[in-house]
Amino acid sequence: MYFQKIRHPSNFRFATGHAGESLQLGDAAPLRPCVRDLGEDVFHVELRDDARWPLDPRLLRMHDDAFAGASTHRLGFDADGTLLLEDAQGARVLAGVPRAGVGVCGKAWLVQLARGEGMRFYGQGEKLTGLEKTGKRTKFWNLDVWGDHPMPVIIDGAADPQYAAIPYLLIRDGARWIGVLVDHPGNVFMDTGSNWFFSGKDDLGAPPSLWFGADEGVPAFYVIAGDSMASVTRRLQRLVGVTPLPPLWSLGHHQCRWGYGGTRDLQWLDASFDEHEFPNDGLWLDIDYMDDYKVFTTSPAQFGDRASELRALADKGRRVVPILDPGVKVVDGYEVAESGTKAGIFCKNPEGQPYVGFVWPGRTWFPDYSLPEGRAWWAGYARQFRDWGFGAAWIDMNDPSTGAAEVDDMRFQHGKWDHWTYHNLYATGMAQATWEGFKAAKPDERPFILSRSAATGSSRWTALWTGDNWSNWHHLRLAIPCTLNLALSGLPFNGPDVPGFGGHADAELAIAWYKAGALFPFLRNHSVKGSVAQEPWQFGPQALQVIRHFVRLRYKLLPYLYQLWIAQAREGTAVMRPLFHDFDNADGLELDRIDDQFMVGQAIMQAPLLHQGQQQRTVALPGTGRWMDACSGRFVAAGRSIHVRSDAASTPLYVREGQLLAMQPGERTTQANDLSDIELHAILGAGCADEAVLDYAFDDGLTDGHQRGERGVVRFRATRAGDALALRVEVLQAWRPLRVRVVGYDGATSAVVELPAGDVAQALQADTWIFAGQPLAIARGAVVTV
Ligand code: NOJ
Repeated sequence: MYFQKIRHPSNFRFATGHAGESLQLGDAAPLRPCVRDLGEDVFHVELRDDARWPLDPRLLRMHDDAFAGASTHRLGFDADGTLLLEDAQGARVLAGVPRAGVGVCGKAWLVQLARGEGMRFYGQGEKLTGLEKTGKRTKFWNLDVWGDHPMPVIIDGAADPQYAAIPYLLIRDGARWIGVLVDHPGNVFMDTGSNWFFSGKDDLGAPPSLWFGADEGVPAFYVIAGDSMASVTRRLQRLVGVTPLPPLWSLGHHQCRWGYGGTRDLQWLDASFDEHEFPNDGLWLDIDYMDDYKVFTTSPAQFGDRASELRALADKGRRVVPILDPGVKVVDGYEVAESGTKAGIFCKNPEGQPYVGFVWPGRTWFPDYSLPEGRAWWAGYARQFRDWGFGAAWIDMNDPSTGAAEVDDMRFQHGKWDHWTYHNLYATGMAQATWEGFKAAKPDERPFILSRSAATGSSRWTALWTGDNWSNWHHLRLAIPCTLNLALSGLPFNGPDVPGFGGHADAELAIAWYKAGALFPFLRNHSVKGSVAQEPWQFGPQALQVIRHFVRLRYKLLPYLYQLWIAQAREGTAVMRPLFHDFDNADGLELDRIDDQFMVGQAIMQAPLLHQGQQQRTVALPGTGRWMDACSGRFVAAGRSIHVRSDAASTPLYVREGQLLAMQPGERTTQANDLSDIELHAILGAGCADEAVLDYAFDDGLTDGHQRGERGVVRFRATRAGDALALRVEVLQAWRPLRVRVVGYDGATSAVVELPAGDVAQALQADTWIFAGQPLAIARGAVVTV
């Protein structure tokens, strides 16, 4: 496979007419288009020719029934076979290239769209190609990046494709936004004008176009039309499946390293985090914990009394997360290999024998997760792992990585289906099976799975880390747009290895990674065997102090972050997102070109320093109103760019005026979290006329109880008059008491708290209201002035 080249329209035969039920392809058999309006301006297009594409391998279905509202747009094909998307007024929103819009080339197919002059492109899932995808040519085929690309290309951050394939393109055309998601499990290609980008024109004077297609398999894609990046992204997320509400602990800090093997390492980490008063939830075990790299075993040399050792750590709030690789060692007497053989669930090669690849244990067989019985078989072992006391699962090498053996010889469905039919979905099947195993072990707990590889729809079962990056400044810069585009493409729960996996981080780089990454959706410190030690305390006391400060800040902000995950689970809202998800461009503020600043939810904006030795930078302050500089507490006017200096201990971090942020109280020195004990930070500067509203939801952060009503929801409304804050409280859903301390800024020296009358007031632990450090005694139904 040539990674840099894709199929080109010049070699395709195109439909030139549309009559009755078919698209005419000249001498070739016609295609049968089927366009479905799914509601809410989400459409599905499928082109059928059962002789050309006899097999429909799309085993993972999207949520086509998620859209209740009527569409205002219309999608169809016109008389010359051109795809047309029109708005309610009949204006053209998206159109195929006339008489060259739908094409075939043997088993390959392609859809070519007219590329409007103002069109800009985003999305494309996990790519290291920057925020904007205009003028790019790419493939969507999951790879074991270190196994498939040359190392210099990896270090340069130029390797494409990566581990996760999400063939999604988000198109901006002025005020219109259009999402196109190719509905395909195999290799998809896409071009957003690379020829034009290269030479400025097509040599035959063809009009500018963009195209996508696949090497084989039923042509199918979704189109989503909207008026904002946020609305299209939410609908995409509901279509592919939202991220279920994660357990709170998964949002904390995680410590990993290739080389950690068992109890000795775990206890050392536990004691070190305690010693440094550094909150940390996850302790991760890489491949050395296994017996001879055999999946679903533990090495007797690495553990004593495994169950009690894991329990002791769990009792302290540390979850141990082992790695699981799909490759099963081929060796006699290994129960997992034997039971898999007996169950007939290993992938086959074209000769009908079990397909053999090479991973850490040497020769390996691969479970076929495309089979329900393959997933059930794997889930049985995963369940046992949870029962042994492991807290979550880290699933790796599931691109799938097969070492020296050609992956194409791995077939699915008892050897009947070619490799491409399930390639990009392999990791998703593994994630689903692992999730189901963990769920079976603890039916009321929310499982947490982290995967290296993913595809459209993986978000239902797994978070993603962006694979083996490098400890250098370039990878740090690339991590931001990569994570942002993943969020725009339906995989919001993701993050890079901090402070970089390969190579050696020094203190300055490690601090920069932590400053930028502290509020990423997922935060894990991980590094390759043989690199310098990268635990947070290995970079000296000063670095530790800074790194710890930002991790403690993350823990302090967990109630705020948790609200964002509730919104993700409920309506698919992205958590970390580009500035222009929340704000429009304005004069001098081209937000859609900014890839070194980002929003964490609607209230927090970060503008990290991403270059060695850098001490100052320009920060765009989008929107109207003001932002509060989180370091100084000063309020600064929005709608402009400012120049800021930042010292070694701080980072440019801004909070939007008019917001209420729930945080944990005080400085967080351990991983103990309690969503029912909060500080409520009212970001209302002097003279602010806004009313800040927050519906704060809290639950146990761990179980599915929240789905059974075991959760509280309290609505806070805050305004400011002079130096006084007025806070009205309403209990929307009573559960346990909520402790609240109110924090004001910019000279707010007093607060009036109006509690609801009646029994619901019991839901608020009224005797523990605090303002400016002073406890308040507030009677039920009373209005209290501080
Ligand atoms: C590859 C993974 O990407 C990496 O994170 C891990 O440390 C190694 N496999 C060893 O398991």
